[in-house]
Order: sequence, then structure tokens, then C-alpha cells
Amino acid sequence: MKVQPRKTFAQVPFLDFLRRALEIVKNPLPFHHDNFEKKGDTFQLNLGFGNKIVFSRNASFLQYVLQKNQKNYTKSKVQTRDLAKYIGQGLLTAEGAHWKRQRKLIQPTFHKKHLTQLLGIMHETINEELSKIPVGKKVDIEPYFGRLAFQVVAKSLFSGAVDENTISRLQEIVEATQKMLVKELRQPYLGWWFKGSGLIRKHFSMVAEARQTIESLIVQRKNNKASKGDLLDMLLDARYDDGSAMEMNQMIDEILILFIAGHETTSNALTFVCQLLARHTTYQDLIFEENNIAAYEDDMTQLMGQKITKQVLEEAMRLYPPAYFIDRTNYEEDIFEGTVIPPATPLLFSVIEIHHSEKYWEDPEKFMPERFEGQPNQHSGYYFPFGAGPRMCIGNNFAMFEMQLVISELLKKFTISSNQKTIEILPLITLKPKNAILEFKSR
Ligand code: HEM
Repeated sequence: MKVQPRKTFAQVPFLDFLRRALEIVKNPLPFHHDNFEKKGDTFQLNLGFGNKIVFSRNASFLQYVLQKNQKNYTKSKVQTRDLAKYIGQGLLTAEGAHWKRQRKLIQPTFHKKHLTQLLGIMHETINEELSKIPVGKKVDIEPYFGRLAFQVVAKSLFSGAVDENTISRLQEIVEATQKMLVKELRQPYLGWWFKGSGLIRKHFSMVAEARQTIESLIVQRKNNKASKGDLLDMLLDARYDDGSAMEMNQMIDEILILFIAGHETTSNALTFVCQLLARHTTYQDLIFEENNIAAYEDDMTQLMGQKITKQVLEEAMRLYPPAYFIDRTNYEEDIFEGTVIPPATPLLFSVIEIHHSEKYWEDPEKFMPERFEGQPNQHSGYYFPFGAGPRMCIGNNFAMFEMQLVISELLKKFTISSNQKTIEILPLITLKPKNAILEFKSR
């Protein structure tokens, strides 16, 4: 039998990394792009002292790792250790049998059928938050959507049982913790200072405060017994295979995770959508017409009836995917298309590069929502805003419903304009917008 040659990844030397280190700290995406152009769709970046990362924009490789052979892959330490140290072992950060048990328990909560119950509270919260946007003034819209997305998760969880000050404080803590984590990841050489100066301790005590707040909300609900039909009720009613319910600490971990996973991503996507709409005003009119001509019976019928609103959101997340990288590491040696992947190789899949690749998309830099017309899954082999495989985003329907409601309500009230030439990005843990200055005028 002929033995297949065992290929290795194309290499990017440490010196190339060093030469552009300053630029990489600000925005690593152009460096990665140049490497992809020079070395092909997968390459290994050498970071010195034996450290390396494999980058890929090969959609089949991503599907192989996240779906076909997912059992051999785990998430990176950034999620399972660094993030988990602050927010515990919930869906986003857990691994193995523990993750599987939690996913099975929580999955039904995010089913479309259950989400129907949340649409009323979501819609009300969205309208309240949209009324705070200053009209006729240039404004950075991102903080408004940050608040809106946090409020939507908080009210979907706790209905009216949680007051404004409590939500604001929870948001402050969640955001401060995320920022601290970014600092620790970007400046690992300052670890001694973060510890010595008490910064890490301060963040642990803030998280402890958030955990206490969440616990008292859960205890109140348990004592109160009246069902609200919100996410918290659904989580309290959920049962494992053996008939038991979630323990208090686990429930707190999961709730913190929903805040972390569900607010910044959604807020980024909403900001990018508005920036794109400000540049492509015909779509503002099309969305306005789609949502105002038909008289919908209820929210769910309206959401199901929306075509253009959804296509615009899908196209915005193609161009600006909030989760722009997905990471994994293999347990055992693997081979993909003849290339050997040694055990414990850190892999980073560039969703943003896949979404901008001419291999998969016609005219990839063009904003063209109609490319999503037709079969719902026609692009599923190379379109991954919510990931793929068993660890795909559990909140994808929640996020889509929320964003569809926001965009349709927003365009009922306002027109959006911008006089900025470019859409600026800030690639941190998520792909964040930068200086998203827009003007909203009443219709
Ligand atoms: C536009 C908004 C959103 C985007 C782009 C997004 C994207 C993603 C992606 C790409 C993953 C998979 C990460 C991986 O495989 O490593 C993920 C996981 C997850 N997302 Fe989302 N997400 C969004 C909104 C939400 C919302 C609203 C919630 C909850 C309220 C949520 C909860 C989660 C959770 C819990 C996980 C972990 C699932 C698991 O590992 O089992 N996400 N998200």
C-alpha cells in the first residue's frame, strides 16, 4: 500500500511577527490577512519559545474540527481557564461530560417555542431603550446598544423583578471583568502587577457581588412561587435525566454566562447593522415598508414574515462577524487533508476571512443582503456567525429575534445617517465597532 506523505503547516517565522508586533497589538487582522495571501488558507505562526498558533480560513477545515471530528477538539484555555476563573463553569466555558449535561438541560429553554413567551418582554424593553437615543444629534450608538442588549438579557431572565440600578451594576461588573480579561490576555508580562496591585482581587470581589445579587433574585423567585414565564422560570423548571434540578452555584454560573455571551456580541452586531444601513439607505426604506405595510397579528408572525430585515442582519454579520475567530485545540494527533496536526495544537479559525473570501462569495466586499434570499441554509458551508457543530451558539434564535425587533422598531421611528467615510473596527475578544457616530432623525 502506498503511504501518504505527511504534510506540515506552512510556516510564518517569529521574525515576521516581531517586525509587526506594534501594529499587531492595535489590530492583528491585516497581519493575518497578509499571511493568508502569502502562505495559503492555513498557516502556522511561530511566536517564539516554542509557542505557535495555527490560523485557518479553510471552511472545510473549520467544519471538520467543529463538527465532523469535534470529539477530538476542546476549546482553548482562554475560555476554559481564563474566562472560567471569573465566571465559573457554565455552557460557554465548560468542557466534556459537564458541558454535555448542561447543554442538554438548557437547550430546550432556547427553543423557538419557548422564546415566543419572551417576545413581549423583549419588545417592551427594546422600545423603552430605543426611546433613549438622542434625536437629531450625532451620537456614538454603541453604548446605547450595549445597554439595550444587557437589559434584554436581564429582563428576559428576571422579568420585572430586577430594578434599573441592579441591572446597571451587573452590567458594570460584567463589562469590567471582560476588560480585565482582555488586559490579562494582551499584556501577560504584566501579570505580576495585576496580582500585586490588587486589580485581580478587586475583580474577583466584584464578581462575588454579582453572584450574590443573582442568588438573591433566584431565592426571591423560589420563595415567591408565582410563575413569570421568563428564562429564570424555565431554568428553574428544567430537569436533568435523573429528575434533579440545577444546583444554585451552577445556575449562577449559567446566568453570568448568558450575560457575557449574550450582550456584547448582540450589541456589536446591532451597531454594525446601523452603520451599514446609514450607508445603504434603500435598505432602510425596504425594512420600513416590510414592517409597516403588513398588519401582523403578533410579534412571532411579524418576525416570521420579515425577509429583508433578516437578510440585512445576516449580511451585516457576514461582513462584521462579532465572533470573528473560533478557537479549538486537539487532544490527539489528527490529520486533515494530509496535513498532520500534532496533539495540543492551538487552532484559530478566522470566521471574518471565510466571510470575505472570494472562494465562497461573489463580490465579497459588497453589501448585498439579497445574497441571502432563497434557501435558508444555502451558505451554511462557509457562513458561521454563530459557530457550527454541537457548540454552536445556543442563543442564536434569541439574538436574531432580538435584533429583528430592534431594527424594525428603529426604522419605524427614525432614519439613520452618517458622514463617516469608513466603518472602524476594534478586534478584541469580540469584533467591536469603534467611533460608530450616527445621526437618528424622526420619520
Ligand atoms: C449576534 C449575537 C451573537 C453571536 C454573533 C454569537 C456567537 C456565538 C458563537 C460563534 C458561539 C460559539 C463559540 C465557539 O464555538 O467557540 C456562541 C456560543 C454561545 N452563545 Fe452566542 N452569540 C450571540 C448571541 C448570544 C445570545 C443572545 C446568547 C444568550 C442569551 C448567547 C449565548 C451563548 C452561549 C451560552 C454559548 C456557548 C454554547 C455552548 O458552548 O454550548 N449568544 N455564540
